[in-house]
Amino acid sequence: MTIQRIGVLTSGGDAPGMNAALRAIVRFAIQHGVEVAGIRRGYDGLQTGDIAVMDMGSVSGILHRGGTALKSSRCLGFKTDEGRRKAIDTLERERIDALITIGGNGTTSGADALSLVWDKPIIGVPSTIDNDLYGTDFTIGFDTAVTIAVEAIDRLRDTAEAHERTFFVEVMGRDAGFIALLSGLAGGAEGILLPEVECDLDDLCEKLVKGRQRGKMSSVVVVAEGEEAGGVFEIAKKVKERTGLDARVCVLGHTQRGGSPTATDRIRASRFGAWAVQALLDGERGKIVGEIKGEQRFTSLHDACTQKKPIDLGLLELAKILGT
Ligand code: F6P
Repeated sequence: MTIQRIGVLTSGGDAPGMNAALRAIVRFAIQHGVEVAGIRRGYDGLQTGDIAVMDMGSVSGILHRGGTALKSSRCLGFKTDEGRRKAIDTLERERIDALITIGGNGTTSGADALSLVWDKPIIGVPSTIDNDLYGTDFTIGFDTAVTIAVEAIDRLRDTAEAHERTFFVEVMGRDAGFIALLSGLAGGAEGILLPEVECDLDDLCEKLVKGRQRGKMSSVVVVAEGEEAGGVFEIAKKVKERTGLDARVCVLGHTQRGGSPTATDRIRASRFGAWAVQALLDGERGKIVGEIKGEQRFTSLHDACTQKKPIDLGLLELAKILGT
């Protein structure tokens, strides 16, 4: 089948670098003689038909910007048969021959569900700060989120040092500890708590107290959102009660999703975007593009959103040894 027009959407939590991926898709496709239809507000816009044809100029000046020029949404309606039927009506009406979805787990699940009922090709571009998508070592936005978290940890360390305090920093990641692990390692955290690993509060308290006894007067503990020991406030409270340390909490929240993407994310997004278009031209379908050990890889949409990507426990061990 010849592909004349590709639809593209960004969906779910925005991630720095989504714009760079969009730019790559639009420009790579146009230079290969394919039209691009931009679908606004993710699957919402696919259902309502909020679509405009994109030209080279429509993606000018967005490479270095966070957020997404196409806007995003978390669309519950798309989880229903009715929602997907409306989406197919739009795709047919707009003469879209193939779809590229840019997003994380929810976006990929949506693409997987759509691929069962729409007979045209879909390719996913993995983009989420959480990095929790199976089939790629890194997702677009993750490097920027880690960089932002590390900058924040460095700042908190200064004030922790000045007041001889222990800071508990909550980073994003929903049910995944990738941001916490890498920012904790890069920030020299004395503790890293992840949803993937059972929290041992006794161990953490002992470590913090021993540090004090050795003359270490401040500490930083990075806690992943979704950590199961009761959340960052509860953990800080318990540690304070058990150790008597002066504890403070800082929740980084959505600051990790905004701002300019790092060069690494821009490069990754540019490559992933071009790979997605090339994959469609090569006849691929029902897959995400990804990068494993620096090499291009394709993984089925279904595996990408249903398989659990493992966390590197070796890195956690290293962070524990170094952050004493
Ligand atoms: O998936 C990206 C993410 O930022 C998660 O880390 C976080 O749990 C979630 O989105 C927050 O979602 P929302 O912006 O809808 O509150």
